[in-house]
Amino acid sequence: MLHPTRLRLVLPLLGFSLLALPLVAQPATSAPAAPAAVAPAPEVIEVKPVAVYLTWQRDPVTTMTVHWHTDWTHGFADSVLEYRALGAAEWQRGQGEARAMPFSNRMVHTVELTGLSGDTVYEFRFGQLRARQPDGALEFFPHEPVRKFRTLPATLSRPVRFVSGGDAYGGNTLNLFADMCRAAAAHDPEFALMGGDIAYVNNEPRAIGRWFSFFDTWAETMVRSDGCLVPIVPAIGNHEVHGDAFAIRGGSPARGVSPDRAIQFFSLFSFPGRPGYNVLDVGDYLSLIALDTFHANPVPGPQTDWLRTTLAQRRSVPYVIPFYHVPAYPSHRSFAGTVSVAVRANWVPLFDEAGVRFAFENHDHTYKVTQPLRAGQPHPQGTRYLGDGAWAVSTRETTPPAQAPYLERAYSRNHVFIATLERERAHLRAIDPKGEVFDEFSIPVRP
Ligand SMILES: [Fe+2]
Ligand SMILES: [Fe+2]
Repeated sequence: MLHPTRLRLVLPLLGFSLLALPLVAQPATSAPAAPAAVAPAPEVIEVKPVAVYLTWQRDPVTTMTVHWHTDWTHGFADSVLEYRALGAAEWQRGQGEARAMPFSNRMVHTVELTGLSGDTVYEFRFGQLRARQPDGALEFFPHEPVRKFRTLPATLSRPVRFVSGGDAYGGNTLNLFADMCRAAAAHDPEFALMGGDIAYVNNEPRAIGRWFSFFDTWAETMVRSDGCLVPIVPAIGNHEVHGDAFAIRGGSPARGVSPDRAIQFFSLFSFPGRPGYNVLDVGDYLSLIALDTFHANPVPGPQTDWLRTTLAQRRSVPYVIPFYHVPAYPSHRSFAGTVSVAVRANWVPLFDEAGVRFAFENHDHTYKVTQPLRAGQPHPQGTRYLGDGAWAVSTRETTPPAQAPYLERAYSRNHVFIATLERERAHLRAIDPKGEVFDEFSIPVRP
């Protein structure tokens, strides 16, 4: 459990520090002190961030979205930071906004930085704004520490590596989640796709501490060897939605579907944002499509119409990667499950038409690689469905091959995928929480 602290710092002003006062020797019989000639030093209240994490809303080549939390009962914190390219002399200021995190004492601060250079390491630091004597200009008083992030390259001039997984902090301890994160971070990923069931909070006030633990562990473990934090690119899962706790769950999707069932999730991440599905275009080579498998939005209807248009607009993009929670081709649950049937009926034909080479699925708490499929049948240029979400949850039995002939292989094993995009092919590895690479394969880029 986190106990955020409030630090009161007395900063020097005009070369004069209140902290120094007790150290000044005073004669025992000195005359009464004369009135101060200068204004007292301002007390700067540093409200410590209790969660710091990154995501993107627009092109990761030129932008970064920084999120952090503060506890409003500890004081007011500005949604402001300073940033600069590593090695640059001048800091620049970025300002954003804060919103309340539902059912908590927390504010979620968001600053989107734009106009950045590609493939560049930046430093950033939080702080407080104060009006300057005597002209009223806002001055920035920085807080420690300085953190780092990295933008993505504009082209595949070098390989780009990322992590993909889902069904993350599902247990009652953080050990497995932290181990899997450390193993993933050791590969120096540039971002992490997180395909739903992130912290198993179910939008419930009583479970909200799980989000706090998730972000603490993420900040501690998902750091690259160059010190850069690993941004999260999330999609929504059933455990981000109110009503998916065992005690109160209905039968998805019959229980009803609305973004308002996931107000915590939407308060925490600017991406995908409402209504719950979105696309992130990276330079000229990658489009990440976060979809919603009946959690805040129905699969058929507006979301499928949007997906059709989104895919059609990206015909020239080499890597188009959908990722979502409930699998079209499950490896534990029933092939006849309502959501899986809906995904196969609505999205799979669009993936086939667009020549999508691989998609990430989750939710079944297993490891799987399907055959390349088109219209559900093996096809050399088909889509491989990679899953099925077992970042740090209890794994489940896999479906016997006779009942799921579309599976090329499946194991009951905790894992994340490490995907490395090259010009001609994507190289994929599956690693377990000990860091062991237990599967490895390549998928050619779409023609
Ligand atoms: Fe799950
Ligand atoms: Fe799930």
